[in-house]
Order: sequence, then C-alpha cells, then structure tokens
Amino acid sequence: MAYKHRVLFVDDEASILKSLKRLFRKEKYELFFAEGGQNALDLIDGLGKPISLIVSDQRMPGMNGAEFLAQAKVIFPRARRILLTGYSDLDALVAAVNEGNIHRYLAKPWDDDGLVLAVRQEIEQYDLIVENLRLQALSKKQNQQLVQLNQNLEAKVAERSQEIIAKNKQLSSLNARLENNFLNTVRAFGSIIEIANPAMAGHGRRVSEMSVAICREIGLDASEVEQVEMAALLHDLGVIGLQGQAYKHFGENPPDVRKRYELHSASGQAMVQFIDNLDQVGLLIRSHHENYDGSGFPDGLSEGEIPLGSQIISASDMYDRIVHLQTRRDRLKRQIMPSVDRKDELQALKKDAETELKQQSFVKFDPAVVKAFLVVVQQKGKAVRTEREVKLVDVKAGMILSRALYCRSGRFLLPENAELIDRFVGKLKHLHYNDPVREPVYVKLTT
Ligand SMILES: [Fe+2]
Repeated sequence: MAYKHRVLFVDDEASILKSLKRLFRKEKYELFFAEGGQNALDLIDGLGKPISLIVSDQRMPGMNGAEFLAQAKVIFPRARRILLTGYSDLDALVAAVNEGNIHRYLAKPWDDDGLVLAVRQEIEQYDLIVENLRLQALSKKQNQQLVQLNQNLEAKVAERSQEIIAKNKQLSSLNARLENNFLNTVRAFGSIIEIANPAMAGHGRRVSEMSVAICREIGLDASEVEQVEMAALLHDLGVIGLQGQAYKHFGENPPDVRKRYELHSASGQAMVQFIDNLDQVGLLIRSHHENYDGSGFPDGLSEGEIPLGSQIISASDMYDRIVHLQTRRDRLKRQIMPSVDRKDELQALKKDAETELKQQSFVKFDPAVVKAFLVVVQQKGKAVRTEREVKLVDVKAGMILSRALYCRSGRFLLPENAELIDRFVGKLKHLHYNDPVREPVYVKLTT
C-alpha cells in the first residue's frame, strides 16, 4: 500500500479552511486543518506521526504564520513549509525565508491550480529528501558492515595463514624425516650386498662416500648428490646371486662367467625399478660399467651418453677395488710388494689407483671426473681434522657419528650424524659380541 502523506492547512478563517478542504479532497493525502497557529501546534503535538507538508496563512491573530512555521520546524524539521501571504507582509516574508523557516510562499489570493501544483511539488521534494536520507543511512550501515566484514576477513586470513605456515613446517619436517628414513633404508639395503659377499665389506659405503665428495667438487645440487649416494650404495646389488668367481671382473674369468657377471648392472636396475623414488637411481646403477670410449656394458654408451653419476660411481668403484678389495691387494702384494707394512702398502695402493685413474682418462673415464677425483683425493690427504677415532669400549652417550657405522660383516647400523644416545650405546656393545662392529668408530670432534 502506497504511503499517504499528511498535509496540514492552517488559517484563522474557517471558510478558507473549508475551501482548501474542497480543493484537496481528491488528492491522495491525509488532510488536517487547524484554526490559528496555537491550535495547529496542539494538533501537531498530539498527532505523534510525521507531517509531510504544512501550508499556513501569514496573517493570523495571536501567532502569525511565520512564527508558527518557525515553531513547527522545531517539531518536524523535515516537513515542507509553505506560507500564504499578501504583498503587505513583505518584511515578515523576507525574514521567514532568510531564517530558513519556509520553503516556498504563495501570494494571496491564490490561484487554485497553482496551489495544488505547489503542494504536489513540495510533497515530491519531501519524498526525495526522505529517500536521500534513507539511502545515506543505508549506505552508512552497509559501509559499517563492510568494514566489519573486512576486519573479520583480515583476521580470518591471518589466522588461516598461520595455520598454513604451521602445517607447512610440520610437513617439511615430516618430509625431511621420511627422506632421511628412506636414505637409511637404502643404506641398510646396501649392506645386504656385503653380507652376501664378506669380501666386499665396506665397499658400497666407501664408493658412496667417495662419489658424494666428487659430486660436491663438481658442483651437483643436493638432490643429484643424494641420487648418486644411493646408486653408489646399491651399484652392485645385481651381484647378489652370482657364484664365487663371478665377483672377480679383472679379466681373470672364463667368458661364460664374465657374461653372467656383465648382467649384474642391468639386473641391479631391475631390482630397484619398482621402488618409488629409485627410478633415477636405477638408471645410474645400470650404467656404472659403461666406459668413456664405448667399450663398457650393458649398452655400450660413450662419452656424454653415460649419466654423469654413473661415471662418478664407476671411477670410485675402480679406485676402491684397487685400494681396499682383497683380490687387488693380493695381486699387488704378490707382484710388486711382497714385504711392506700395512701403512706403506695403503699409500702405495693409493698411488697405484691414482695412476690407473689418470691412465684411464678418456678410455674408461670422463677426464672431468678424473680431474675432480684427483682434487678430492689430494684434499683428503690434507683435510682439516674434524673427527676422531674411538674404540667401541670408549664410545659414550652424547657422541655424534662423523661417519656411518657398520658391522665388520658390512651390515649397516647407524647413519652419519646420528647422536649416540644411551640406548644405542648399550645395544652396540651387546651386538658386538654376535656381529662385531667395525672399529674404529669415527665421531665428531667437540669444540
Ligand atoms: Fe659393478
């Protein structure tokens, strides 16, 4: 239902009010009439509802129109106000206009059409003002709601960001633990090779350490270094199952044994290819017997076709076989050093291995790998001491391993950087009776 505006007419003459009533009968307003200013104020006071428009005569006894409208303005400031006045009341009219008490004046006697039109226009003006105020209030309220929402949103975003940061930290730490556990699992897995063939004890670990040092010298990134480390630990996984002589691959075996031996790099890859995260490691294992000149196996790759990690493992493998593995040592002892003490023997073997590496540059090995290898070997000779050797009986809780710990049988026990807590120390000493721990134990020097 449309809103019905209230319009009040004020005049001291009842006949005039009557004629105004007739004039506005058909308009859709609620009409009020009052004889004189005081009666009008009494009516307004008792009404309790807003009036949209007041039309008042100026010349009235007691209180004139301008005075009445000034008082009515205090009660209903939004009401539109029209003053009907004769030319002789010009001073009162000017004062009322200047004080802002009336919005329009009409001369008496008025023209009916003019008065009706003026009333309609003022009612429209009233509607516009009221609508404008309503929109202003709405806009203010919505602005306040927006500010509130924005503050809530900012608080929620900050809270959510904190949750995400905390979750990320947890995930990173969990991921690091998983990666570390995975590497330790691979280390333990690698020790199976050495248990299967005790003559290879420590070989995988040493090849892995040497390969990691060369990777770092060449400048490979951390994830590549980790792949090489795992591939080096597992490079001879495929050897498990080969019988006796097949371990020797120095050309001493008959062709059929050599042929079987040459399958081990591909079968090593096959053994890890279904393990997540080890597919790249499998490729490195597959190519660890490829030669720079294309004479290796299983694929006869050459130069840049061979993965860099495989070339690094290949060089480390050869170096360790010469320096540490029994067959080579026996051969050297037998042929060139029948009676030397162990320290001199090791130095001579290292020299021999370095010479072999240089000779095999461009033949078996990439010259860049050989170059990095020789730098690492020389640095090892003059390395700053950061670790010390202790016997197992002297191992104490709180020490930190500077190298991974293995049994003499090659079984992996604890990783590098592991802190020897009370429980580990007791377990190690107990284990030593059944499966002797490799000594000395290397621990970090405390500052
Ligand atoms: Fe191999």
